[in-house]
This record gives sequence, structure tokens and C-alpha cells, in this order.
Amino acid sequence: MSTLKSVGLLTSGGDAPGMNAAIRAVVRGCIYHNLRIFGIRRGYQGMIDDDIEEMQSNSVSNIIQTGGTILKSARSMEFKTAEGRKKAFENLRKRGIDALVVIGGDGTFTGARIFGEEYDMPIVGIPGTIDNDLYGTDYTIGYDTALNTVVEAVDKIRDTATAHSRLFFIEVMGRDAGFLALRSGIASGAEAILVPEVKTDYTQLNHFLENGFKKSKTSSIVLVAEGDEIGGAIKIAEKVGKAHPEYDVRVTILGHIQRGGSPSAFDRVSASRLGVSAVEALLAGKRSIMVGLSNKEVIHTPFSQALKNKKALNPQLLELTNILSI
Ligand code: F6P
Repeated sequence: MSTLKSVGLLTSGGDAPGMNAAIRAVVRGCIYHNLRIFGIRRGYQGMIDDDIEEMQSNSVSNIIQTGGTILKSARSMEFKTAEGRKKAFENLRKRGIDALVVIGGDGTFTGARIFGEEYDMPIVGIPGTIDNDLYGTDYTIGYDTALNTVVEAVDKIRDTATAHSRLFFIEVMGRDAGFLALRSGIASGAEAILVPEVKTDYTQLNHFLENGFKKSKTSSIVLVAEGDEIGGAIKIAEKVGKAHPEYDVRVTILGHIQRGGSPSAFDRVSASRLGVSAVEALLAGKRSIMVGLSNKEVIHTPFSQALKNKKALNPQLLELTNILSI
């Protein structure tokens, strides 16, 4: 029998579509299990600033379909200090909050791990980031929506690229990971995909440009992950443009459009499952873990593992790109 009574909930780091669906699931999961639930605004900074309010079932009405996060998000420098965390803990204690659910990425879980150890507080994390770069889950909340946003944008760029027989370098987000670039590249039929996990091979790229683009003269799309060691789409476009002045080269950086929008059905369902699972994990006495989805099942991964291990890109998808871009 759990002694848990009150749970605090926050979203932190870069927002991701589906965070609201996860908030809804945590709030309703708590109420279903007779727990009080407190929303903390602006992530860890709101915990320090005492920006905390109790939530009810109707606090989360009509949000499953919306992007962003109703709790707002922030990256708090103050929470990195012991004084900041002490202030945060005192604000939780005075309200009787005895556990936390945090939604975010690796920065969020790093903070949670330190805080949980320092104040002996049970904390469960829900992976929410468009980057999909967390070990311990096949998919993070927001990734699927961002993927579809990128594909829709690339399809549109393809129209104009074809009309002008141009070579486009399109940069997508992902921080230092290439999940978004790789999968959206396959889905949009990109001729080449540059990801940080694989060293950019100029010879191969040149070969493709000479044999593919030059010959067909229709259009070509090269997807560049922002974290690629090459330094992003602008740099590589400059280099290729200099080497091939005969090509009509353009660059598009998709930017924060990838973070917004109504979440896909897939993200809404994942968020709903993970939100309720996080509450149930706390009730089962779990702490310092992230809930994730592996082979369609909910699994628990200790923060220490989720933070230490690097999730690998699927080698079959990498190989697929080589085959399909001939
Ligand atoms: O982690 C999500 C993400 O969108 C990354 O893909 C990107 O590198 C970063 O956040 C951008 O952060 P900000 O919104 O603070 O510029």
C-alpha cells in the first residue's frame, strides 16, 4: 500500500507536441488513483519560484490535441545550483508534494536524478523531445509529429526544387542525434541524408551529385541533421556550391516549425499510455526511472542508464538510404 499523497508535475527543456496529452494523462491518472496533483509552471525554474498550482480533472480539458505545453517550459540555470534546488525542495515540502513526474529530455532527467538523490524524492520521467535521442524508449513523445512536419515541408520544397531543377540542402533539428533526419529523409525520398552518427563521406556525396543530380537534372534533396560534424546545411551547401558552380544550390533551415503543431495520433496515444504508467510506477514505489516504450510495451529504465547509454540509429535504415538513393 503506497503512502503517496501528492504529486508535482512539470515539463522542462525543449517543448514537444504531445506534452499536453502527457500532462492530461498524469493529471487524470493521479485523480483516478486518489492522489492530489500540482502543476509546476516553467519547469524547474517554477519549482524555485513557487509557481505551483493544484490541478483538477477539468484543468486538462480540451488539450490533448494542442501543441506546446500548458505548464510552459524553461531551461533553468538556477536549478543547477545547490541553493536553487534547496529553494525548490522547500516549495514542494510546504505543499506536501512527495513525488514528481517530469516530462522532458536528457537535461530534464539529469536534474531529476540529482534532485531525487539529494532530497530522497521519488521521481519518474516521461520522455518528451522531438529528437528521439533517449535510451530506454523506441519513441519519445513529439518525435512522430515532428517527423510528419518535416516530411510535409520537404514535400513542398520538392515541388519548387523540381520546377527549377535545384539542389536543396535542408537542415532539420535533433541536436547531436540524427533520428529525425534519417527517418524523415527516408519518408520524403531524400537523395542523401547526413547524420552526426556517420562521418560525412564527401566522395560518396560527390559520386551521388555527379551520377544522380547532374545526370537527371530534376531535383535533389539532401537532408542535413543540425548536429552533423560538417557544421550544418549552410556550410555544406557552400562547399558543394564552390566545387560545383554549375549547380543551382539552395538551403532551407526548417527550425522551430518542427517543434509546434497538433500532435499526431501516435504521439497522443504514447503520451496517454506513458502518463498513466508514470503515476502507476510511483504508486508501485518506483523512483529515479524513466517510463518508455519498447516493442509497444511500457518499460522502466533507471535515469542512470537512460543518461549513460547512447541510443543507436537503426543500421537497417541507414543501409536503406544507400540502396534507395541510387
Ligand atoms: O531538444 C529539442 C530541440 O528542438 C533540438 O532539436 C534543438 O537543437 C534544440 O531543442 C533547440 O533549442 P532552443 O529552442 O532552445 O533553441
